[in-house]
Amino acid sequence: MTAAGYRLRRLEALDDAQIEQLADVLIDCVDGGASVSFMHPLSRDRALRFWRRVAEGVALRERALLVAEDALGFCGTVQLLLEQPENQPHRADLAKMLVRRRARRQGVGAALMQAAESAAREHGKTLLVLDAVTDGDAARLYERLGWVRVGAIPDYALFPTGGFCSTTVYYRRL
Ligand SMILES: CC(C)(COP(=O)(O)OP(=O)(O)OC[C@H]1O[C@@H](n2cnc3c(N)ncnc32)[C@H](O)[C@@H]1OP(=O)(O)O)[C@@H](O)C(=O)NCCC(=O)NCCS
Repeated sequence: MTAAGYRLRRLEALDDAQIEQLADVLIDCVDGGASVSFMHPLSRDRALRFWRRVAEGVALRERALLVAEDALGFCGTVQLLLEQPENQPHRADLAKMLVRRRARRQGVGAALMQAAESAAREHGKTLLVLDAVTDGDAARLYERLGWVRVGAIPDYALFPTGGFCSTTVYYRRL
């Protein structure tokens, strides 16, 4: 545990207890209004199914999964999608950056991003791509960390309780 009260680690395999905790993180974010592929309310069953699929990708080393853990359990997570088409071996997508509401604004998100970038370098990746809700909390985080804004796609997705939201695409060279 750091002085900040959380520690980061990469999970190479997920057990059931860890999948439960990751479901808690995802449900908390959707409950808080985050547009992260799911509508509200997100059932526990659906969240568990999502993380079980992620676990399969982690076991196959197609995904790198990082978690932040505080005294209460997992409080944040982010993934790198390492498996890409054969003409894009140098690229990874960054996805599902999630920090529980109780742990926000303490640097967990920035620490997860830095850890993900380190993991990407270890895999020989030189280009990262992500998308985020335009002008949201995450977009601010990515811009602060030096990600380059490509452009916005209007009406790309829905907020969890409805209503279109615009998505902005970012990249970062490592
Ligand atoms: C976006 C998200 C991941 C950010 O996580 P976070 O842990 O709060 O991120 P950080 O703490 O690194 O930074 C957030 C803010 O806290 C501030 N902060 C960081 N450490 C701080 C500290 N010790 N004291 C006070 N403020 C601090 C940062 O400056 C930043 O401020 P800003 O929003 O005004 O720019 C989080 O809000 C989240 O999970 N949202 C819902 C899910 C989501 O939208 N995910 C993105 C999908 S693309």
